[in-house]
Amino acid sequence: MIKLHDKYFKPFVSAKEIDDALQRLANEIAEDVGDEIPVFIGILNGSFMLTSDFVKKYPKTCEVTFIKLASYEGLKSTEDIQRLIGITQDLTDRTVIILEDIIDTGNTLQEVHRIFKNEKVKSLKIATLFYKPEAYKKDFKLHYVGIEIPDKFIVGYGLDYDGLGRNLPEVYQIKETQHMTNLVLFGPPGAGKGTQAEFLKEKYNLVHISTGDVFRYNMKNETALGMLAKSYIEKGGLVPDQVTIDMLNAEVEKNAGANGFIFDGFPRTNAQAEALEKLMDSKDSQINAMIALEVDDEVLVKRLLERGKTSGRKDDADETVIRNRIKVYYNETAILKDYYAAQDKYFGVDGVGSIEDITERLSTVIDKL
Ligand code: IMP
Ligand code: MG
Repeated sequence: MIKLHDKYFKPFVSAKEIDDALQRLANEIAEDVGDEIPVFIGILNGSFMLTSDFVKKYPKTCEVTFIKLASYEGLKSTEDIQRLIGITQDLTDRTVIILEDIIDTGNTLQEVHRIFKNEKVKSLKIATLFYKPEAYKKDFKLHYVGIEIPDKFIVGYGLDYDGLGRNLPEVYQIKETQHMTNLVLFGPPGAGKGTQAEFLKEKYNLVHISTGDVFRYNMKNETALGMLAKSYIEKGGLVPDQVTIDMLNAEVEKNAGANGFIFDGFPRTNAQAEALEKLMDSKDSQINAMIALEVDDEVLVKRLLERGKTSGRKDDADETVIRNRIKVYYNETAILKDYYAAQDKYFGVDGVGSIEDITERLSTVIDKL
């Protein structure tokens, strides 16, 4: 997955598939033109990459040139009238084949036809690498079509989103639920994760998914997944990642309208982080950040011992147990910290201070995502 400006895009057409499509087009066209030497005209900017690759695959002699369509500047009109830059040669009686990157509504194609009306070419044919049949509103014939695609915005291989993405060697498709904010919340025992999750949930309209709670809920309600999990737990084994992921998937689906999710207690390993990424990907979404509340060990020990006095939780009463839990936490999260840091998604937040101050610090991170 990639991000350009404010939008996310997922892999859609591989370099290999593009290559194959261009090869098919080249063979087809070469066969049709027979002994003619065609003039291939790439429409800039989008066609620069495909034109270069295409003519390398063209098995016979050909000419190649580029033209650019540009809107008249300062012209106020409902019809966006285009002018043409770049036809410098005489095309009289030539077989001209337009190379388009993509045909969407067909507006650009209409301009091309309008402009070529004055050229006394022998024939004008249209070849396009991508074609969106659902969006096409004209009835000009498309002589050669590489790949038909649904009516969704794509980038890469010459195509841009507001200037970016043209240089990508493969094509990506826009993700449509990109407004979701999905967080993985981390923090050592006593860092105030639960408290902060409550505030963030309210503030950003997120759904808090604590894996522990999901397990307990499923087991208590004897759902199929709960029973499956229980069978592992009762044998003293670990619940396989796939079972946990299936449970999380069910939770995510139950809350399909949410602005996003706060994952708490999951992932704990690289394999789980990858599984979570796949799950979010299948929802056309992504994990935006891992946020870890950072609190000094001594402060944690003090806080937990304090909590132990009133909570009655045995694991909060014994200092050795507490220190061990903190140690386990750091061993576990170190791996994930690296995993998310490698994607620029790790954010450490100072977890010492008033509840409001810490919520404020977390919000500063989230607002920038
Ligand atoms: P049309 O005039 O609507 O057929 O659109 C053609 C032009 O719009 C292309 O040459 C592109 O510049 C742009 N375009 C249409 N669809 C896409 C897309 O999915 N990604 C990037 N550019 C697009
Ligand atoms: Mg174009």
